[in-house]
Amino acid sequence: MASGLLAGKVAFVTGAGSGIGRATCRILARDGAQVIAADRNLQAAQETASQLGGADRAAALEVDVSSLTSVKNAVTAALAKFKQAPSIVINSAGITRDGYLLKMPEHDYDDVYSVNLKGTFMVTQQFAKAMIDQQLKDCSIVNMSSIVARMNNIGQANYAATKAGVISFTEVASKEFGKFGIRVNCILPGYIDTPMVAVVPDSIKQQVVQRCPLGRLGQPEEIAEVIAFLASQKSAYVNGAAIEVTGGLK
Ligand code: NAI
Repeated sequence: MASGLLAGKVAFVTGAGSGIGRATCRILARDGAQVIAADRNLQAAQETASQLGGADRAAALEVDVSSLTSVKNAVTAALAKFKQAPSIVINSAGITRDGYLLKMPEHDYDDVYSVNLKGTFMVTQQFAKAMIDQQLKDCSIVNMSSIVARMNNIGQANYAATKAGVISFTEVASKEFGKFGIRVNCILPGYIDTPMVAVVPDSIKQQVVQRCPLGRLGQPEEIAEVIAFLASQKSAYVNGAAIEVTGGLK
């Protein structure tokens, strides 16, 4: 049996093949959780799982969070893998399809909505059902919003709307699930050095760094550490919160 704050817990992490999701898998595993690394990109999820200490500690799963069937299959597969429902769920899968509103194709709006907001809804709903069915104690769900939900950048109407939606969704879920011992919180990362931000033009990144009081981008591990706190009983009275982790960027 592993030691650590999360020993005996199973964690399910979406978007686990890259960036914040991958760093989260590493930190949760370090803290003793068995981790299911789930991603639309199975190969990337397998690469993450291979860093986590063997088949009894971690597994990779292909899941498309925008498909209810895929999410339901993931619940079944997760239960089969570690013989208990995950009591920690991290919704890190997310995409951007930036563009000016007047030129935004309908599919760019729909795709971002389907992954970022509807995906968060479906994963939360299906895994919460499993937590409740198994009468798990001390459960924690962490959703990924963004500081963009408050900055509302030009060219990100679709993304900003979904990330603002995640804050409201989180608050409702926290109110509905509290009585089951399931806490639900979300994080608003600032600009974090991951493949998602790698495509942002350098001139914009420089502006962000200048505006950020800490004068740099964040590292994925700096988000993952806050996620690990929210996953653990150290945050036992934190529920329905939206926590900015931005280096002070507003
Ligand atoms: P990333 O692009 O590095 O990783 C996202 C992962 O999600 C990828 O592995 C991708 O395959 C997976 N994914 C995409 N669509 C999926 C789907 N339908 N089903 C399952 N997996 C899917 O992104 P990053 O930077 O790690 O972002 C993680 C989360 O944090 C996202 O929700 C993002 O919106 C949010 N965020 C990121 C910020 C940043 O600066 N990097 C800032 C604020 C929020």
